[in-house]
Amino acid sequence: MSRILTVDLGTRSYPIHIGPGLIDRPEILTARIAGPQVMVVTNDTLAPLYLEQVERALGAFQTARVVLPDGEKYKTPDSWGRILDELLGHRYARDCTLVALGGGVIGDLAGFAAACYQRGVALVQLPTSLLAQVDSSVGGKTGVNHALGKNMIGAFYQPRAVIADTDTLRTLPDRELAAGIAEVIKYGLIRDPEFFTWLEANMDKLRARDTDALTYAIERSCRNKAEVVAADELETGERALLNLGHTFGHAIETGVGYGAWLHGEAVGVGMCMAADLSARLDWLDTASVRRIRSLIAAAGLPVTPPAEIGPVRFRELMARDKKTLDNRLRLVLLKNIGKALVTADFDSTKLDEMLVSSCPQGC
Ligand code: NAD
Ligand code: GLY
Repeated sequence: MSRILTVDLGTRSYPIHIGPGLIDRPEILTARIAGPQVMVVTNDTLAPLYLEQVERALGAFQTARVVLPDGEKYKTPDSWGRILDELLGHRYARDCTLVALGGGVIGDLAGFAAACYQRGVALVQLPTSLLAQVDSSVGGKTGVNHALGKNMIGAFYQPRAVIADTDTLRTLPDRELAAGIAEVIKYGLIRDPEFFTWLEANMDKLRARDTDALTYAIERSCRNKAEVVAADELETGERALLNLGHTFGHAIETGVGYGAWLHGEAVGVGMCMAADLSARLDWLDTASVRRIRSLIAAAGLPVTPPAEIGPVRFRELMARDKKTLDNRLRLVLLKNIGKALVTADFDSTKLDEMLVSSCPQGC
């Protein structure tokens, strides 16, 4: 059975559909198409799996496709330019619609192209990875990476709908499933302690892809995200909490080279580092730190950073974080499981201690 949540943004509100078989229900997708022209943006892994199904659902429309190479390393201004080239080449008009069929990379790229083409055209997100279904497709963050920093070029641009067909998760590799679970755990940590406890009890089911458990986790994650986005669309306050673990995680992703570590894997380690630092600041008890590390490990995620990034390099990479204000690094830290805060007001020697002790072999 499918469920519908709403991201409440006044006249720009939109539904999140969650459930099995949604791609095969054309009325859900076609209801959100703006004019006669649709461009489906996907990658060369997903095209053979789902593109035909999606194009069949769009039968009555003029459709074109952009199939990009798969991978975080292609989340670049060049790939974004390729989408715009295709839109221009096909003479797509202002009332066209972009459909993003894929994980967070495709969603962010297609979203940014939709934000820019003719100063903004309609966008529908068809997320196919767990990470995209619980996080990246919802809330309107779009963009591309730069060699000097992750997601540094982009725009806030909301879709007209998110359609999360849970059947697509059947073809998702295990490592990608685990990476998505990292963002699910994040919601428990920042604002939903009951969900954290539920995750401790149900992690085996999630990893075994139990349909009910997965649907419940996706719905609860999206509900949390929709509430945060509705309260703070442009990240002037509470939305920054969604970046728990991301300052450390982005440093890892940039430091090892895009794609070597999955985003969710880097965020998983980043959440362990944020918990460790919170404990060193006496804000979080050590039993909670142990619970957090255990849950992240139980999800099949790494809990220590890669050996090649030492404390000095971490510091350099973290200085480029988008939350940095007045040259002061701001971090999302924990007061408890289910209670987070964004702050620049912490003893930075504790950060250095944490970085030194987190680094494998004390590098
Ligand atoms: P991804 O898009 O690279 O997808 C992961 C891999 O799984 C890819 O190889 C993809 O082809 C494959 N895949 C996806 N769905 C599949 C399916 N159903 N069957 C088989 N293979 C499938 O990565 P991701 O983890 O989905 O997203 C990570 C990206 O999302 C990062 O670039 C990150 O910065 C971004 N992100 C954005 C937001 C946001 O709010 N916009 C939030 C979190 C993450
Ligand atoms: N993933 C962080 C956000 O959407 O704000």
